[in-house]
Amino acid sequence: MKVLVPIGMGTEEIEAVILVNVLRRAGAEVILVSVEKELVVPCYSGTRLVADACISKCADQMFDLVALPGGMPGSVHLRDCKALQKITTRQAEDNRLYGAISAAPAVVLVPWGLHERKKITCHPAFKDKLPTFRQVQENVQVSEAMTTSRGPGTTIQFALSFVEQLFGLAIAQEIGNSLLMQIKGGRRRVKEFNEVVWSCDHTPQVLLPVANGSEEIEVVMLADILRRARVDVVVVSVEKQKQIVGSKKIKIIADKCISDASKSTYDLIILPGGVDGAERLSKSRILMKLLKEHSEAGKVYGGTHSSVVILEKKGLLKGKVTTTDPSIKDQLRGLVDEAEVIIDGNLITGKGLGTVIDLSLAIVRKLFGLDRTRCLAEGLVYDYK
Ligand SMILES: *[C@@H]1O[C@H](CO)[C@@H](O)[C@H](O)[C@H]1NC(C)=O
Repeated sequence: MKVLVPIGMGTEEIEAVILVNVLRRAGAEVILVSVEKELVVPCYSGTRLVADACISKCADQMFDLVALPGGMPGSVHLRDCKALQKITTRQAEDNRLYGAISAAPAVVLVPWGLHERKKITCHPAFKDKLPTFRQVQENVQVSEAMTTSRGPGTTIQFALSFVEQLFGLAIAQEIGNSLLMQIKGGRRRVKEFNEVVWSCDHTPQVLLPVANGSEEIEVVMLADILRRARVDVVVVSVEKQKQIVGSKKIKIIADKCISDASKSTYDLIILPGGVDGAERLSKSRILMKLLKEHSEAGKVYGGTHSSVVILEKKGLLKGKVTTTDPSIKDQLRGLVDEAEVIIDGNLITGKGLGTVIDLSLAIVRKLFGLDRTRCLAEGLVYDYK
């Protein structure tokens, strides 16, 4: 199965990265394509993604799916790309799958006329641009060959819907489970022990270290959501160069290399998961020294998924309650809880993947309180209680 995911300047990085990552998990051959002149594309919240190819290389190829991420002005850049319009129009005419999320249904598909006679949804901020007659409020709407969805918080469901349409329900369920999307009792849980205050009197500085093999969904969700909350996030590579390649081969350019980032002080250090990526983070002497000094100073730190195991190995979980992905929790020796996110004093841990949105919002709540978190969750189209 061949899938095209196009990006332009200002594309919502969470949406682009989830589409590529989830469809690659299912075994699809996904090509991340730039509609700009350059392969390096600065996205909505500042993440720089490196596309696999430019759109001109794809004009004569046949795709089983063309999936458009949203974001502004990214959606406008997709709309104005004639080559992409041609590919997507042919896709619709030949009755092969296509879809769009967030701003893109309203800003791209409607002006191209590819929504006609179909039910359609999009981000709440753009719904007045949809024809009233066939507009719906579903998180994901499949209408013949066209599928639409609402925002960053609904993108995993959107991507899983394509997996189901291309590979069948059983595979979609299996991948949904591996992404921790099936939650017992319906609601994700955040638990807090030994409550301390995290808020500070300046713009919080967050260090997000990355390595080859880091889980790109986690990297991009943390960076994007914290930046939306006006946190200063520095994505730092522990590799020899700023460009890293994530667990599902998505290339991301970090803001700095670790050697240039270790002199600054941070309010929070959070390690993303990905088995190989976490292992490589743990091999960075500079990062581990920084993290040790940081935690000894009583500052906030944490990790998700396999990085929680790294924190354990480095002796940074002593006496704390933690959580991680159920498949690796045997590697933790201390008190492990079943909740999706655990805050214990100045430590935050999470199961990772599909639950990183909860972890990111938990950090925002600790830094800025409930009102800002609710408002942010609404923009993400995430049901936050
Ligand atoms: C890490 O990934 C980059 C590509 O982004 C590659 O150039 C580099 O060789 C990789 N490093 C290692 C040690 O594999």
